[in-house]
Amino acid sequence: MNDAYDGLLDAARAARLNAHAPFSKFQVGAALETADGKVITGCNVENATYGLTVCAERVALLKAISEGQRGFVRIAIVTDTGQPTPPCGACRQLLWEFCGNLEVILGNLQAQTAQHWLKDLFPHPFDANSIGAVEPGAV
Ligand code: THU
Repeated sequence: MNDAYDGLLDAARAARLNAHAPFSKFQVGAALETADGKVITGCNVENATYGLTVCAERVALLKAISEGQRGFVRIAIVTDTGQPTPPCGACRQLLWEFCGNLEVILGNLQAQTAQHWLKDLFPHPFDANSIGAVEPGAV
């Protein structure tokens, strides 16, 4: 695995420590990198209704969008699991719509990592292009 990802994985590991996960106890950290090198982090934020829980990846993405950031190149996601865990389907949909073919770096609390492209994790998407609007990643 490319050492260039270490900083982004460290940012996701640090963000994970802020997770609000009293129900699942499953803490997730994410760090999203812009084309000009800015890093926006997120953690999962759970809710007593369960259904209102927001994943770490979407917290990072929506923070970034609300701060005016656009043009994302990769996201690092960290969980305390033996095998690093990929993003859920809802996060794949939102990441695709805002980021297009993002590089997805997965890590755990050890040095174990994996690398994927979002187009492989999210094939045959429904997106803005499907309804004749703009290309994914261009919103
Ligand atoms: N979770 C994430 O933060 N990201 C994912 O991609 C999968 C799941 C969170 C949601 C919930 O707080 C906990 O992990 C268990 O599902």
